[in-house]
Amino acid sequence: MEYNFDDIIERRDSGSYKWDTMEDPEVLPMWVADMDFRVAKPIINALKKKTEHGVFGYSIQTEEFYNAVIGWFDRRHNWKIDRKWISHCPGIVPALHFLSKAFVKPGDKIMMHSPVYYPFFGSALKNDIEVVFNKLIYKSKRYEIDFEDFERTAKDPNVKAFYLCSPHNPGGRTWSREELERMGKICTDNGVLVVADEIHCDLVFPGRKNVSYGTLPEYIADNSIICVAPSKTFNLAGLQTSCLIIRNPDIKKRYDQFLARLGIMRPNVYGIVGLTAAYTNGDEWLEQLLVYLNDNLTFLKNYLKTYIPQVKIMEPDATYLVWMDFSELNIDSERLHNILLKEGKVWLDEGYMFGEAGKGFERINIACPRTVLEEGLNRIRDSLKAAGLI
Ligand SMILES: Cc1ncc(COP(=O)(O)O)c(C=O)c1O
Repeated sequence: MEYNFDDIIERRDSGSYKWDTMEDPEVLPMWVADMDFRVAKPIINALKKKTEHGVFGYSIQTEEFYNAVIGWFDRRHNWKIDRKWISHCPGIVPALHFLSKAFVKPGDKIMMHSPVYYPFFGSALKNDIEVVFNKLIYKSKRYEIDFEDFERTAKDPNVKAFYLCSPHNPGGRTWSREELERMGKICTDNGVLVVADEIHCDLVFPGRKNVSYGTLPEYIADNSIICVAPSKTFNLAGLQTSCLIIRNPDIKKRYDQFLARLGIMRPNVYGIVGLTAAYTNGDEWLEQLLVYLNDNLTFLKNYLKTYIPQVKIMEPDATYLVWMDFSELNIDSERLHNILLKEGKVWLDEGYMFGEAGKGFERINIACPRTVLEEGLNRIRDSLKAAGLI
């Protein structure tokens, strides 16, 4: 069937984190990473069927659930997952917190790129773990890895884990097989566990490619925990259901025991049904979504070129989050954010929340109907103009 991503769906007063937490109701939210699109029909149908069944007792991951995960990653990522590698977690942010607790001791260190999705360092810091950043190099409007620094950092015996965001949020980069292997080898050789957050792995623009960490050579993949979920791909974040794929039985046992100590046994019933439907019958919707997102990206680039040429973007390979570079305006980052929010009434994510390296940037979410994207861009342009910045 054909989906219409231009449809405006009223999300105010729906208990939405994105739309119902603003002090000023006039503000247009383009920050948190969920989409303003209705989900795929097969998902709605499966959830309806469950609702009509009317019994919501304790539920287990069904045969269909496991087959859906295995089939999806085989079909779309050429990654062969064994059923016994699959563990669950309510979400990937909870997973980062759990893993910080299960695999790293207070006082030890976790390394990660900078900038990076802010819950990465939050998950460490909130558990009294030190964070060491491997600062990405901003080169030709793209982030590159400083491998010399990466290796030096990984050799610190107190660094116990590396949290990798792949594809990268906020830079939108997919990492090449060579880059992943190089990082993986350094970590494995230095006893640093790799946690690969691949939540955005399906949202790859045409002509770009994402490499799953699980498809790397066995000795590298064996030293990893890979976090996946249908939550970004299919707009199911509220179902709070994700999977950790852990091929190393010792690491898996340690994680499963940690979950058991927390008393977390099974995913929620709607999460099981939603994930199964998405990974089994969601391909057609996703293909259409990717075309729409790509057109939104083109719209954004054309708009900036025409009306705000001073603002550049980092060309994303993946994700519907675009890293906008305002540094040419030469304005303090907090002041910039306030102008956009208070005068423009458009809410982007502040670049500096992603770390020092994010200063001068703002992150925009383009997973919305094109008219909404245009409205958001108009607000950005008009507020910058009124402030005399463009
Ligand atoms: C890289 C990354 N990981 C995790 C999450 C959130 O995951 P969850 O909702 O499963 O906790 C996001 C959401 O934006 C994200 O961008």
